[in-house]
Order: sequence, then structure tokens, then C-alpha cells
Amino acid sequence: LKNHSEIVKLEPYLPWHATHGNGEGLAIGIAEGLLRLKFTSPAPFPATGDFGIQLSSKSSPALPVTGHLTPTSIGGVFDLEVAEGSGRTHLRELLTGLRKKQHIEICRSEDVESSDRFTGFEQFSLLPETLPELDYVDINTATTFLGRAFSLPLLITGMTGGVARGEEINRRLAHAALTLNIPMGVGSQRIALEKPDLTRVFNVKKESDGLFLIGNLGCAQLHAADGIELCMRAIDMIHADALAIHVNVIQECIQVEGDRAFKGVLCKLEELCRKSPIPIVVKEVGAGMSPATALRLREAGVSALDVGGRGGTSWGYIEGLRSTLDETRHVAETFRNWGIPTAFSLRKIRSSLVDMPLIATGGIRNGLVAAKALALGANMVGIGLPLMRAALEDEEGPLRLLAIFKRELTITMLATGCQTLHDLSHRLCHSPYPLEAELHQTIQTGRNQGYE
Ligand SMILES: Cc1cc2nc3c(=O)[nH]c(=O)nc-3n(C[C@H](O)[C@H](O)[C@H](O)COP(=O)(O)O)c2cc1C
Repeated sequence: LKNHSEIVKLEPYLPWHATHGNGEGLAIGIAEGLLRLKFTSPAPFPATGDFGIQLSSKSSPALPVTGHLTPTSIGGVFDLEVAEGSGRTHLRELLTGLRKKQHIEICRSEDVESSDRFTGFEQFSLLPETLPELDYVDINTATTFLGRAFSLPLLITGMTGGVARGEEINRRLAHAALTLNIPMGVGSQRIALEKPDLTRVFNVKKESDGLFLIGNLGCAQLHAADGIELCMRAIDMIHADALAIHVNVIQECIQVEGDRAFKGVLCKLEELCRKSPIPIVVKEVGAGMSPATALRLREAGVSALDVGGRGGTSWGYIEGLRSTLDETRHVAETFRNWGIPTAFSLRKIRSSLVDMPLIATGGIRNGLVAAKALALGANMVGIGLPLMRAALEDEEGPLRLLAIFKRELTITMLATGCQTLHDLSHRLCHSPYPLEAELHQTIQTGRNQGYE
């Protein structure tokens, strides 16, 4: 499935020189196990065969890489097929770092959400209360989640900030989380397992003591032969209070260097849940989870689920934007709006798993929609993309944005006569402007489904 015709552009180009004989130039592209080299001074003659280079990179000392050189159709440009054990690990790290950087830049500057923004919350509304018999100060947004008390039901969902800016981004997010007393997730720690000096990017607790921090790894890491050990290392690395395992089938299938082995993951999750000293969260990333899957995960011992529905950031689509191949862009466009809308996934799972702690993530863009998610049975509401963009702005960006969410949620609660988050489920109705009978029935159904 790995496609060598799909080579990720290296930006900036990295200089190299030959380890034996002469020859130097720039590395202009990279793929799994492959470097695309441009010669700026003499191209080798004959132009094929074994070849060794020292690659210079700002982030690490010169990397020795050897492999088999073949010419491409472009003059002066060759592909170096790197042999296992002769620089492949370095290349993998380089590719991971580059990918994270591209993700941030694409998320900052492009439209990366589902094209219609449909999360399903559009089909629900909350019944206003003209006489709430409450003061603004009476509104109580406090909640508990995974055994910890929080002031708000909002979660900074796990996001990779890349290598260069990751530390700063995570510090800004942690500052907001600690100030508002809400939980925070970090992005995939895989890169720091491969390169331990990057632990500093994720280790935000050292400056934000008391923060509830959720670690993050992909199901591909769990799936590895030493997967359980990797998870334990990720937990220790950041003194995590919970660990999220993310699953994103579409993204992995579209990403040029994606991991596409999903067989046996449930069994590994079961083992992880048995061995982990902290709660395990399984996190879908945009396709929404079905109730049947949720049930299997609960039976495997998973402590909480992030339903990760459709309508927000579309990761398959982002991988298309990264690609240089028209075919991949086409496939990514096909799957841009794939998945179960967040509200529908949440509602269905809540109706079959009454007590399961649920996080609603995917396209939640204000405190009113967050209130609808809570009314539909979410225990926590996760926010991703808007917080990443806010964190890229300035030190206080995430705190400012979350303060708006808090205000909108509090207003919604007062305007629906709900003193506590628990009360919100009684105000849920189909939108827009339901008939009285329909309204009554909806609220009754809500009760029967255990929303209260
Ligand atoms: C820049 C960026 C990086 C992300 N990195 C990760 C990651 O490393 N691991 C993960 O589980 N989810 C990651 N996510 C996904 C988010 O946690 C979230 O599930 C997704 O963005 C949907 O929420 P949204 O619509 O509010 O953005 C990332 C999201 C963004 C925007």
C-alpha cells in the first residue's frame, strides 16, 4: 500500500554530501524508506548503485544514510532507496517531524472541516425558559469526570503541536486548562517515544502542577509487538491521569505513510485496560462511533469513549491536502464528509450505554452547541481545531476562546432554566420550532432513554 510515487516535499530542502567520493546537493523529497536527492555538483557516474550520504538537518547532527541510487525522470534528481538499518530510523523521525509541521500549517491556513459542517446538533434545540427563577451567579457548570472534579465540562482535546512549536502550544493550552480547571489531552506521543529528547514538548505538568492530563497514542503503536510497553512509557513520560488511544481508519488509509493494520486491536486494548494503572479512553477522530463498537469497547474494559463524530475537522481530507498526487486528493475529497455526525453518534451510544463516560468531540464550535451535547448525554465536550488556532495566536488565545465557551454555556443554562448540567437533558427538543406535542414527546423520550 505504500506508494513511492507519492513523495512528500521536504521543506526546507536539506543539504547533503556524499560520504565516499564527491557529490553534494539537496534532499528535496521524502517517503517511507526513500529520499529524493537533487545533485548540485557532479552527479555520480554511473548514476546507479550503492551510495552513502551525510544529511544535514537543523534539528539533529548530520545523519548518515546509505542505500541504492536510481535516476528519476527529472535531470539531476535521483531516488535513494534506503536499506533497513542504514538510516531508515532517522528518515522515519524526519518524516514524522515534517508531517506534524505540515498538519499545523494546513490546520492554521486552510478550510479543513467537513464541507457542510453538519454535526447533527442542528436538528436539536433547547427549550427556552422565560422565567428561569435563577440568577446568573446561581448557574453551576461543575462536573466530575474519570474521578476528578472540574469547573466546566469542556476538554482540550489531544492535538500535536509539531516539533518546533509544540512546546509553546502545549504550554498555552495547559495554562488555559489549569486556569479554568478543565482536563487537557496531548497529541500523539509517538514522536517522543522515538526521540526521547522531545519529551519536553508533552511534559506540561512540570509547569502546570495539578493539571488533569490525558496522554495519547495511536492504535498502531498499541498494535506493535511491544505496544503495551509503549503505552506504559507514554503514561510515565507525562505522568498521565488517563491515556487516549486514537483510531482513525480513513486518515491512515489516505496518509502516504499511514499505518493500515487494524486486525487484533480490540484484543490489545483489552490487555491494555487490564494492565494500565490509569483509565483508558478510546478516541475516534471524525468518523463517529457506532453503539455496537462502543459496547465492544466497554466490554474490553475501556473507561471512557470519545465519540469523535463527523462535522468538524476532517483528517482524511487534511492528508489529501498534504499529498502531491491528484489521485490522493481525489480520494480525500470523497471522504471529506464521511462518518456519523457527532450528535447522532452521541445520542445512539448514550441510549444503549447509560453510564459510560462519554466525550463529544467533532465540530463543537460554541458553548450553545456544547450545551446541546451535554443535553444529549455527553459528560465532557472536546474542542480541537479552534483551540489550536487560538494557541497559534498568542499566549492567552486558548483562555480567551474557552472563556467565550463558558459564557455561552452559562447563558444557555440560565435561558433554559437549568441550574446544573444535569438539568439540560430535560430541555432537549427537536429543532426548529417543534409543535407542542412533539416537544412533549421528545422530552419524554429523553427521560426514557436515561438522559436524566
Ligand atoms: C492540529 C491538530 C492536531 C491533532 N493531533 C491529534 C493527535 O495527535 N492525536 C489525536 O488523537 N487527535 C489529534 N487531533 C484531533 C483532535 O483531537 C480532534 O479529535 C479533532 O480535531 C476533532 O475535533 P474538532 O472538530 O473540534 O477539531 C488533532 C487535531 C488538530 C486540529
